[in-house]
Amino acid sequence: MSKKEYRFAYEEFGSADELDGEDAALLKRAQEVTADAYVPYSRFRVGAAARLANGAIVTGTNQENASYPAGICAERTLLSAAASLFPGVGVEDLAVSYFNENGPSDRPISPCGICRQSLQEMEQRSGRPIRLLLGGQKGKVYIIPEAGQLLPFAFTGDELK
Ligand code: THU
Repeated sequence: MSKKEYRFAYEEFGSADELDGEDAALLKRAQEVTADAYVPYSRFRVGAAARLANGAIVTGTNQENASYPAGICAERTLLSAAASLFPGVGVEDLAVSYFNENGPSDRPISPCGICRQSLQEMEQRSGRPIRLLLGGQKGKVYIIPEAGQLLPFAFTGDELK
């Protein structure tokens, strides 16, 4: 038997004002697109904005459905859009923010488990890390260097071979 430990480093910023210009602009875009979310059921608007390896900016928002499980999160909307519009181009930086119509939006959002699975696979298929910027409308911002770090022991297609 040997004991193992899983650790990862991330950055915490007191506010978006401490980010460098490109990061601040990407997070701002994620905050802005929350206006495009379709959220008649949760009233919880999520926006995502990514910079791809070719420099393109792609956005996504959560799109809900009366059949609740048919709804899709902002992160996966974005990944599908990016892969469809720019096949084979990796995602470099991905900012996520939200606007909660029922309360404050002053803490960083964190991707749900299904989105972590999708982010991990996008990293694997493109061979590039996705750097996550997680924020609210104000308050702290976290930068996670590789999205896959949020899903240790991920199930991957390797097991299906
Ligand atoms: N949601 C996202 O779009 N991304 C997240 O990271 C967390 C949750 C959405 C799903 C649903 O439309 C609403 O937020 C409430 O769960």
